[in-house]
Amino acid sequence: MLRTAFRALNTVLKTAGLKLERASADFDARPEDRFSRGLMVEELAAGFERWIRAQTLFTPAPMSALTELVDRFYHDWLQSPFRSPTGGSRLNNLLWLCLLARAYEPKVIIDSGAFQGASAWALALGAPAARVYSFDIDLSQLKRRTSGVRYIEEDWIRFDPDWQPGDRVLAYFDDHVDQARRLIEAADRGVGLLIFDDDYPLTSFHQMAPSPNVLPKIEFLLSPHLKDLQTLQWRYGGKLHTWTAEGALLENARRRIKATERLPFTGLTTNIMQTPYRLVVPQ
Ligand SMILES: C[S@@+](CC[C@H](N)C(=O)[O-])C[C@H]1O[C@@H](n2cnc3c(N)ncnc32)[C@H](O)[C@@H]1O
Repeated sequence: MLRTAFRALNTVLKTAGLKLERASADFDARPEDRFSRGLMVEELAAGFERWIRAQTLFTPAPMSALTELVDRFYHDWLQSPFRSPTGGSRLNNLLWLCLLARAYEPKVIIDSGAFQGASAWALALGAPAARVYSFDIDLSQLKRRTSGVRYIEEDWIRFDPDWQPGDRVLAYFDDHVDQARRLIEAADRGVGLLIFDDDYPLTSFHQMAPSPNVLPKIEFLLSPHLKDLQTLQWRYGGKLHTWTAEGALLENARRRIKATERLPFTGLTTNIMQTPYRLVVPQ
């Protein structure tokens, strides 16, 4: 009966290009036996361990009992309000935020783009001794305030840095703001390690670009193909958008990258297909 009504409603909605879908959360379908869950957790831990040993961006703190840490993280995340498949960071990326914060041991963490509070939660979990500031121009979407995190309703650039030269500062940018601008701001303020979400190359940024204000991405700075005054045009939400590369601005931002790396893709372990973060050490 309910199924018939659901189908009938969808037939009507389809004429307007709409579709009714059952609300679902990540990992509603999940492994329940110890073997499968253990394998998933071990694979996630091993992926991070391989990466942290091979990377040369920073000297990591020694990390023991990584599998137990990942298992606890997974347990806490399952109980959290951060399992929506849309809008915010999902399991794999949140886990990397937690582990990166643990490995980097920052004194201060900047989380730009608080949204529902997921990234601030994961970062604070990884570095409980750090001062964590979570910024958003609209904090009304917060689902959880993590204890010890300071939530600030403004752009981070309006905040007076309270750290000293030499302090380890980590910043996570997931705020849909031009990444070249964020890179320069963070470099000027002495941030030591930057994590960028939504860093897409020239070939695939379109779905995540509702306006030209989100450009350029870090990938644009690294591309050998983008030339001065190159114009990009793309369709989003039925509207045509345009962005033109300004060579001098791109070069200025490019010069602020000391080292950079894309994190490995771990989607097949969890079937959560999120784009891996980009890390940048600025100068
Ligand atoms: C994709 S969500 C962030 C998701 C969150 N970091 C997570 O991990 O789940 C992007 C957020 O950036 C916020 N935002 C937009 N402009 C901003 C700005 N200038 N400074 C800080 N946040 C901004 C939006 O309000 C939105 O809540």
